[in-house]
Amino acid sequence: MSDYTKTEENDIDKEKRGQFGNRFLTDEKNVFQFNAWDNVEWDQELLNQAEEKIKINSSVLMSTDKAKQFEDNADDYWDKFYSIHENKFFKDRNWLFTEFPELLGNSGGESKNCEKFTILEVGCGVGNTIFPIIRSNSNSNLFVYGCDFSSSAIEILKNTAEYDETKCKAFVCDITDLKKNEFPIQQRTLDIIVMIFVLSAIKPELQLETVKNLVKLLKPGGKILFRDYGLYDLAQLRFKSGQCLEKNFYVRGDGTFVKFFTQDDVDRLFTESGLVKEQNIADKRLQINRGKQLKMYRVWIQAKYYKPKD
Ligand SMILES: C[S@@+](CC[C@H](N)C(=O)[O-])C[C@H]1O[C@@H](n2cnc3c(N)ncnc32)[C@H](O)[C@@H]1O
Repeated sequence: MSDYTKTEENDIDKEKRGQFGNRFLTDEKNVFQFNAWDNVEWDQELLNQAEEKIKINSSVLMSTDKAKQFEDNADDYWDKFYSIHENKFFKDRNWLFTEFPELLGNSGGESKNCEKFTILEVGCGVGNTIFPIIRSNSNSNLFVYGCDFSSSAIEILKNTAEYDETKCKAFVCDITDLKKNEFPIQQRTLDIIVMIFVLSAIKPELQLETVKNLVKLLKPGGKILFRDYGLYDLAQLRFKSGQCLEKNFYVRGDGTFVKFFTQDDVDRLFTESGLVKEQNIADKRLQINRGKQLKMYRVWIQAKYYKPKD
């Protein structure tokens, strides 16, 4: 049974280098020379091995009763996660600005300092994205909202010394049901919605409705910035049999859900919600544990979709 592990999504090497895409493996015999390689092409043998592992780990699906128990208490499992790890699990996502420069509030280098610039991060956890955005942004009219359905995460975030209500507001909210709590954001007011490793935590049948409701909050011209697990990622191949709920959707040992997306899955979710593609890439990376001579193939989907002007 696999628990959430640090290697799962903390892209350690990228955090150190602050960027992607600049180290390519051209000769297999050099593979153990560095900690990571970018844009790794998968050959047929690797694909077959991945397919085989998925076939095995999804051959026995979790019973509906057991799955429902995880579904009904999804927020409690995340609460437990944050009660154990507090703010020490996820790292600040300082790489954000290389991949998503629009978070800096500049458009093509032109400062929009006088305009109001509003961002919402959904599934913000303890603020590993919100705080770097606030720290790095020169726009004095920036305001960042963050919501998460884990009240423990929001409490930890709000108790962080950096939390400043003139610049940000964090609140508890289940994004699959925006009507459940009083929602502080008006429709058509947001410039950007950030979704980092959050949609994967939501049951697939609720994902489209969730995205559609979020899109209503965007201004025409506003964007969703997305990064999440890709199909065949190491975290998927590590699952043991009995943890799969449906195709490419699993429950971890700690009770949290994880979906592994294809680029098409992501495209369908956003275009069926009325957005237009700006970017949709599979970031395939080979991470190396040089001590143990281990190769770890990672796959993340990164996407940007915008709301057309009326
Ligand atoms: C993997 S963590 C990512 C946290 C943060 N985005 C980051 O990058 O550090 C996923 C987060 O999504 C939150 N989450 C999962 N389902 C949610 C839902 N239905 N509504 C709101 N938040 C949710 C969890 O509580 C958790 O904090």
